[in-house]
Amino acid sequence: MILVTGATGKTGGQVAKELAAHNIPIRVLVRNVDKGAGLKDLGAEIAVGDMADKAAVSEALKGADKAVLIMANGEDQLTIEKQFTDCAVAAGVKHLVKLSSMESTKGTAKPIPAMHVASEEHIRASGMNWTMIRPTFFTQNFLNAARTIKASDEIVLALGNAVVAPTDIRDVAEVIRLVLTDDAHLNTSYNLTGPEALSLAQAAEKFSSVLGREIRYVAQPVEEFRKVLTQVGLPEWRVNAVCDEFKLLGDKTSMQTTDTIQQVLGRSPTSVEQFVKDHIDIYQG
Ligand SMILES: NC(=O)c1ccc[n+]([C@@H]2O[C@H](COP(=O)([O-])OP(=O)(O)OC[C@H]3O[C@@H](n4cnc5c(N)ncnc54)[C@H](OP(=O)(O)O)[C@@H]3O)[C@@H](O)[C@H]2O)c1
Repeated sequence: MILVTGATGKTGGQVAKELAAHNIPIRVLVRNVDKGAGLKDLGAEIAVGDMADKAAVSEALKGADKAVLIMANGEDQLTIEKQFTDCAVAAGVKHLVKLSSMESTKGTAKPIPAMHVASEEHIRASGMNWTMIRPTFFTQNFLNAARTIKASDEIVLALGNAVVAPTDIRDVAEVIRLVLTDDAHLNTSYNLTGPEALSLAQAAEKFSSVLGREIRYVAQPVEEFRKVLTQVGLPEWRVNAVCDEFKLLGDKTSMQTTDTIQQVLGRSPTSVEQFVKDHIDIYQG
């Protein structure tokens, strides 16, 4: 049995789908039963509880031999992830797969990457087998651009002159399935990128070529983005951390891709063009 957390979110949801599609028994820990309804339809066992609740986490881990730790970024994330790791050890979990990020390098001052570094360290010291899944910028971040693409043919992001290597969550989920089912991936860290490094203007060109009209990248000032995040009600810690993350990415004007997805999956990572084709309905009027 594999326990998957964050399964009502983007990556965890894709991981649940991927594992269920391969008839791998899963249990998901959800804090909102209504949001978990679709997961039940996949055949997942549902454990209900907040990841901050130690008793609920321990209960959810009962009988699990593997676990996938995925969580939204938040002020308490490190505390919760450390507690989850300790509960997994106590429950006899043999292999813990953690979703981290490629930007999480030792010594970083940025809160989200620093949290991932510390959580990874705690897992490595736990005595369990582990695999760190460290993707860079998700291609699915462009889902948020659907509204402006439809309204004004623009991708508006606070990413300055960033060069990114958009990485498809579907590839990430497939990598996670393979690392869970082949011991060759134990105690390994995988930096995952998409197939090519692109400026945001180049990424917009990919949208243009598939959608058949010109899509432009508009660099939103980070301070404007901060106002939007505050207006939608994000807690202050998260607003600051997300803006810091965007500044980190925005300052990164070169990017080295990795061949890890090709190595693990035996095929090329999914391109931005393919992503747009697969989601064309949400970008067309
Ligand atoms: N975005 C990127 O480009 C990128 C790139 C690399 C790595 N990452 C990493 O990916 C992770 C986020 O993954 P995602 O984008 O798939 O997240 P997401 O879509 O925001 O989903 C987060 C999930 O965590 C769950 N969750 C949060 N707090 C919880 C709690 N206290 N108890 C139970 N469940 C809780 C949410 O449950 P609810 O549905 O109930 O809220 C949801 O299922 C972050 O750690 C981030 O650093 C992101």
